[in-house]
Amino acid sequence: EGEINWSGRFVGNTDPIMEKFKASIAYDQRMWEADIKGSKAYVKALQKTGLVTQNEMEQILTGLDKFKIKPGDEDIHTANERRLKEFIGNPAGKFHTGRSRNDQVATDMRLWLRDAFTTLKELALQLISTMVERAAVEIEILCPGYTHMQRAQPIRWSHWILSHAASLSRDIKRLEDIRKCVNVMPLGSGAIAGNPFNIDRESLRQDQISINMVETKFLFWGSMCLTHLSKMAEDLILYGTNEFSFIILTDAYSTGSSLMPQKKNADSLELIRSKAGRVFGRCAGFLMTLKALPSTYNKELQEDKEAMLDTYDTVHTVLQVATGVISTLKVNQSAMEGALCPDMLATDLAYHLVRKGMPFREAHSCAGKAVYIAESKNIHLSKLTVEDLQIVSPLFDKDVSSVWDYTKSIEQYSTPGGTARNSVTAQIPHFRTWLQAQ
Ligand code: ARG
Repeated sequence: EGEINWSGRFVGNTDPIMEKFKASIAYDQRMWEADIKGSKAYVKALQKTGLVTQNEMEQILTGLDKFKIKPGDEDIHTANERRLKEFIGNPAGKFHTGRSRNDQVATDMRLWLRDAFTTLKELALQLISTMVERAAVEIEILCPGYTHMQRAQPIRWSHWILSHAASLSRDIKRLEDIRKCVNVMPLGSGAIAGNPFNIDRESLRQDQISINMVETKFLFWGSMCLTHLSKMAEDLILYGTNEFSFIILTDAYSTGSSLMPQKKNADSLELIRSKAGRVFGRCAGFLMTLKALPSTYNKELQEDKEAMLDTYDTVHTVLQVATGVISTLKVNQSAMEGALCPDMLATDLAYHLVRKGMPFREAHSCAGKAVYIAESKNIHLSKLTVEDLQIVSPLFDKDVSSVWDYTKSIEQYSTPGGTARNSVTAQIPHFRTWLQAQ
């Protein structure tokens, strides 16, 4: 084959192990379309400088359409130029004028990522939509809400679902923010100093080939998005245990045990959790590579490709699996509601006193004492008699019985973001409108 790009300076051949070591073609070939697209724009700009004739430009453009990769190509950019030379001969030699693989690869990645964003956004929207529709249908289902993994307050199951939909919708906004960082286009920058042929960078830009984004931002984004999905998966794994039995995963997203016949494991969710670790690793690994690099291009930057592609592939799959899991899991309403217990209404007991004029701190302490007494008597909070409660505070009366009602408790949280039926329901059209506008 021989190196077509730097053969002048070199007399010796590359060591075979070095050949393999430096090659990125195994993975950067996925950017072939972006590379051709950027190259086409560059040739058109070159023609305007007069360095490439109209005829040569046309030959180059036709040649670029016949692209195919061969073993021995170091990277997609080398492959592209080598092949062009095979197709059209001499004019191919003019094609890299003023361009470096440095500005070329930076352009390729931005082009590639632009399409990647569109696909990932689409998949994330599908997931959110699945969650929102599920929340709409299951609005009546109540469940315990947990903090510190301790039973905290009764909530609607939909409130839980929509909390995760909200995180994901913020991820979409973040993706859009990255996409919006436009108009600093690498092509036409050369290797470091710039372009000496007065290339029209403005027209290159107008060819819609540029966005300004560093791959690192995408790695941050992937890490953030999978953090959210991993947290959601963690809740669902817990809710799916026999001890909770709140949800049942379908067989399609579960696996069995080769030894224990009864087992049904939530592998889909566990893998979502693990993929978050994988993607952070990619991000952290690339940051380690970046942190001590001198300015401008150094070959280590080639490492960003695998991080970027792997992050894309991972998020791409995780979003689809999450959509599958959420759309097919079964909710065990009686288990969810059966897990509610009167102790979770201790806050309501305090609010009951607050409504009778007691300052909240004092009310909190009174309700706490009531919890203590119930615990020492080994009975539920709701089973304390009015007499028991009156020892704690004379404000307690027969009407305290109205506290022991989960739905009533939930319905008091009717301010925006609350778990009352109207506030959860109000979020649904809001999400639907937002989804439509995407
Ligand atoms: N394959 C290289 C990469 O991915 C392309 C850029 C090479 N540039 C250079 N000056 N060696 O980063």
